[in-house]
Amino acid sequence: TERTFSILKPDATRRNITGAVNAVIEGADLRIVGQRRIRMSRAQAETFYGVHKERPFFGELVEFMTSGPVVVQVLEGENAVARYREVMGATNPAQAAEGTIRKTFSESVGENTVHGSDSAENAAIEIAQFFQASDIVG
Ligand code: GTP
Ligand code: MG
Repeated sequence: TERTFSILKPDATRRNITGAVNAVIEGADLRIVGQRRIRMSRAQAETFYGVHKERPFFGELVEFMTSGPVVVQVLEGENAVARYREVMGATNPAQAAEGTIRKTFSESVGENTVHGSDSAENAAIEIAQFFQASDIVG
């Protein structure tokens, strides 16, 4: 089994659909082994999305991620990183496949409901940014 890091973004908490998203996650055989609702600070958001800091949408992205509560999660399962990316769907919901979280719930590329790590290496780094080992119970 493998672990990945997930965020239910502010558009999900604002619309009160975190349970509906979690049902899709669990339906895909991913187990939520760590979960916490937080308000991300600007510094946390800037560090987290640091790879995108030269992109034109970086400012907007940081604004959005700090605009409301988020739910940070650790998901566990077979090929969790790839499986979750599949369940999330394409970054732009207009291009996301039927049945994916972003196709079902997201309104725009900026407000696309979920984050999922793009590699096992990044998953470990991202999990460590938001979770103590003792707060993950597999
Ligand atoms: P994450 O799981 O959130 O990392 O999404 P991703 O891996 O599918 O996409 P990527 O890492 O390329 O981009 C990170 C985030 O930046 C996306 O999830 C979007 O929320 C945001 N983003 C990407 N492209 C655009 C864009 O053109 N405009 C805006 N406003 N946001 C964008
Ligand atoms: Mg990404």
